Amino acid sequence: MPLESTILEEVVAHMRQRKTRIDYLDFACGTGRIISFLEDKVDKATGIDVSQFMLNRAANKGKRARFLCRDITLADAAVEGQYDLITCFRFLKNAESDLRQSAMTQLARRLRDAESRVVVNCHGGNPFSFKIVLVPYHWLKALLSGQGYPKYVTNGRLRKTIHKAGLHIEKSIGYGFISGKLFNLLPLTWALWIERTLCGAPFIQALGANQLFVCKLK
Ligand SMILES: C[S@@+](CC[C@H](N)C(=O)[O-])C[C@H]1O[C@@H](n2cnc3c(N)ncnc32)[C@H](O)[C@@H]1O
Repeated sequence: MPLESTILEEVVAHMRQRKTRIDYLDFACGTGRIISFLEDKVDKATGIDVSQFMLNRAANKGKRARFLCRDITLADAAVEGQYDLITCFRFLKNAESDLRQSAMTQLARRLRDAESRVVVNCHGGNPFSFKIVLVPYHWLKALLSGQGYPKYVTNGRLRKTIHKAGLHIEKSIGYGFISGKLFNLLPLTWALWIERTLCGAPFIQALGANQLFVCKLK
């Protein structure tokens, strides 16, 4: 979260220079990790999730946000509002490709104007990262156990989904260069230094396990 919070603070600060009011939506808000961080920095915050259980936990953390339990990815879902800022964190990796596409399309429909932004991440889904050493093992394990195949989403596929939704990628930031296990083994200052140094670095960022995109309407 430290890197994500810095990125989100920068997006909000930049938006404040152009907008007097920020209506914010956190799609698939879960237990409110992101919305509880951002709600004080915007004028109005809405969290949407399909799970009432998750929303109850989010509401316990939240101070000002409203929470809606609904599936906005359905074709006939009503558009409940227009927003200046939308976040969608840790959703894309586990969603099937149709759900991924409909979610991004529905989020694009909710952007208010050309100055509005969607910040979306795919957490731990990039196979062309440190995860590459585990890809064959995960596939073999899935094959032998008959369980579902592991979820990986390449950068190319994410970009295609975003573009098909009518969005333009203004900025992409890769992070998550060392595994959680190595992160815990290294002294915290070293681990953070590596992550902060490589986060968003040209070319290298494509190798981050996590990929974040700041998008606007085409
Ligand atoms: C891994 S959690 C992410 C929570 C939060 N965004 C975060 O970063 O901590 C994924 C969330 O997506 C929600 N979800 C799954 N399908 C959804 C849908 N169609 N519409 C809205 N939320 C959905 C789940 O209920 C779950 O709370």
